[in-house]
Amino acid sequence: MTSHESSWWRTAVIYQIYPRSFADASGDGVGDLRGITSRLDSLAALGIDAIWLSPFYVSPQKDAGYDVADFTDVDPLFGTLDDFDAMVARAHELGLRVIVDIVPNHSSDQHAWFQSALASPPGSVERARYIFRDGLGPDGSQPPNNWESVFGGPAWTRVTEPDGTPGQWFLHLFDSSQPDFDWSHPEVLEEFDRVLRFWLDRGADGFRVDVAHGLVKADGLPDFSYSDDAHSMGGVEGPSSPYWAQDGVHDIWRRWRSVVNEYADRILAAEAWVVPLSRMAKWVRPDEMHQAFNFAYLETPWEAAALKQVIDESLAEFSAVGAPSTWVLSNHDVVRHSSRLALTIDNPQGHGIGPSTTPLPDTAVGLQRGRAATALMLALPGSAYIYQGEELGLPEAIEIPDEARQDPTFARTAGERYGRDGCRVPLPWNADAPAYGFSPTGDSWLPQPEQWATLARDQQIDDPTSTLSMYRLALALRRENDLATGTMQWIEDVPDGVVAFRIGDVSVYSAVDPGASLALPDGEVLLSSMPITDTIPPDTTVWLRS
Ligand code: GLC
Repeated sequence: MTSHESSWWRTAVIYQIYPRSFADASGDGVGDLRGITSRLDSLAALGIDAIWLSPFYVSPQKDAGYDVADFTDVDPLFGTLDDFDAMVARAHELGLRVIVDIVPNHSSDQHAWFQSALASPPGSVERARYIFRDGLGPDGSQPPNNWESVFGGPAWTRVTEPDGTPGQWFLHLFDSSQPDFDWSHPEVLEEFDRVLRFWLDRGADGFRVDVAHGLVKADGLPDFSYSDDAHSMGGVEGPSSPYWAQDGVHDIWRRWRSVVNEYADRILAAEAWVVPLSRMAKWVRPDEMHQAFNFAYLETPWEAAALKQVIDESLAEFSAVGAPSTWVLSNHDVVRHSSRLALTIDNPQGHGIGPSTTPLPDTAVGLQRGRAATALMLALPGSAYIYQGEELGLPEAIEIPDEARQDPTFARTAGERYGRDGCRVPLPWNADAPAYGFSPTGDSWLPQPEQWATLARDQQIDDPTSTLSMYRLALALRRENDLATGTMQWIEDVPDGVVAFRIGDVSVYSAVDPGASLALPDGEVLLSSMPITDTIPPDTTVWLRS
């Protein structure tokens, strides 16, 4: 650790705000920065340490803001730079750190650099900042290689040259509105140093780095033999992928770490969908990022043996490089865990569920497992991520009409994959207000399910049995008992299908596998994910002091 660093991030609970859907002050149906500022006190009261905001930068919103047209300004949809400053000031007043998203793999096609690339000839300096190539075949009408977009369809789009003739192709690992940068170009490196400093100077406490396993592509852009899971959002195709997890990407993170180290207490957190965990741990070596989202944990089914294994592996692999383990169950790209853990179908990351999914998850089972899984996660040592709305026990929204769906995945796969809209529906704050208090006008960019009235925050806040109360209690106990810095030890003498461990003075019991339960052990019950008697029933987690 250098003299500039403290280690707040090693134990932090970081709450992800999805700005479009958190709180809308302007009334246009899309959440905004002023809305966030007005609700920060409720997050401080929840007991979190930091917030991470998904992108709010200038963007045509083709991928909900992950298509950035100007990396150093706020989109008018979300407000202004002054609104950002006011939000950071209020968050800091409340003792909350602020992490912002940075999207370095690609820009929007509306970015000034890409527009000038389109207006410039093949081989020009302007095109060299992106990945333009001639097509294959006599007339160049075939894409330069066989790479596929994460959102479906080819990863290449052909441009029309300024003289009106069909021209070169450009690479986009995501939507065709998201051209990939060429990270071997020095101007790209320099520009992102500037972007980092811009937000650090404005008081950001760190960055969540989008697609941190992308950026560098294999020399010569070779074809790739896709395996069955090749289309998954995470790019878990394995070591042979020519566009994920290339060794050269680590040089970029070392460079970024030295920029961030110019400031005190700031962090980098990697969104790196790589497996196994031993490989992901490379992203958090001491001179690279501080944290990486533990997607192996997120993807683990609700099964005792699998959970124990991933917890052991996470602690071992992250600590081998001196990093804390992180834990995460939900985010804006996956089916909410209160639904996902009750799904019996295989649901790869990013594919989503909708009205024609069979079978649909059972809502009650999902909520019960979701609460049990959260109570288990929040007792683990290290840093944890919470995604907005999970503290209300929100399920995935399923009945979204096709015409309202906005995730490019839905359109690019002609509706075959529902995509991620179901986890992005605006939050319910007050049961009786228009749009459940999300916006003053009642507008909401995605429709909110009627059943969400009972899940609104005002319905839960004073109910000691609510999901919100369980989150608040778990976070308070986690802090009071220093669980995040604790050392955990498995409790072995438990029935099959139960996950149990001791951390500090606290013993945690989760009845996970179907039918698994156990007699309530001796001790003071500190927390229970569901009401219990003298038995811990299936799909329930209990914390005891013993
Ligand atoms: C990341 C984001 C996702 C986005 C993609 C492209 O995976 O989490 O929402 O669509 O990157 O930027």
